[in-house]
Amino acid sequence: MIADTPSPVNEPAFWQGLYDRREDGWELGQPTPPLADYLARTTPPRGRVAVLGCGRGHDCRLLAQAGYQVWGFDFTSQAIREAAALAKGEKLDIVFEQRDIFDLAADYRGFFDGVWEYTCFCAIDPTRRGEYVRLVREILKPDGWLLACFYPLRDGTDGPPFPTSEAELRRLFAPHFTFVEADEPRASVEKRKGFEWMVLARPLTLSP
Ligand SMILES: C[S@@+](CC[C@H](N)C(=O)[O-])C[C@H]1O[C@@H](n2cnc3c(N)ncnc32)[C@H](O)[C@@H]1O
Repeated sequence: MIADTPSPVNEPAFWQGLYDRREDGWELGQPTPPLADYLARTTPPRGRVAVLGCGRGHDCRLLAQAGYQVWGFDFTSQAIREAAALAKGEKLDIVFEQRDIFDLAADYRGFFDGVWEYTCFCAIDPTRRGEYVRLVREILKPDGWLLACFYPLRDGTDGPPFPTSEAELRRLFAPHFTFVEADEPRASVEKRKGFEWMVLARPLTLSP
């Protein structure tokens, strides 16, 4: 029998290595334009928002500036350290916690009004995507919202970033969420244009 090999992306050491070697090709140095554009046009109800796999926290700071109470989660120490320093530099009150997102429900069940997803879904082991969807559902209030910009929508299996598709996303989220809006974002950075899909989703009732 061939044993399943755990994917290295499940370990903070993998990501720490990328930060150390400056192989952080995902880094935009600014909030992601699809989120900035979305917030400029419509604002999901204010309250507590979780940013999963927040990296250096650029989106956390944008959400805090827009009036949300923000929690940024990342299991890589360097990401959390830099995110906290950048927020402090802008005098923004954001909670940053170094921890694995897959353990969040133990402390944050039903706690958040909203979840913002950007380049975390594509960073986790694709075999854990169902677990990710359940986790997001569990930490949201029943009337909460998920705003997500999924990337990269393309064929293939190599990653990170691990590709996905509209069909896969609809199938994975259908047991726990309804998609209220789903469209190509208007403001992707150049190299991500045509590979992103922006979704506003609402939770379905939690089954026991
Ligand atoms: C591709 S980076 C994106 C960072 C940020 N969202 C951005 O757009 O700049 C993915 C981040 O997710 C974090 N991450 C991956 N798996 C995680 C997990 N299971 N729990 C917490 N953080 C995780 C990594 O440490 C890394 O900082």
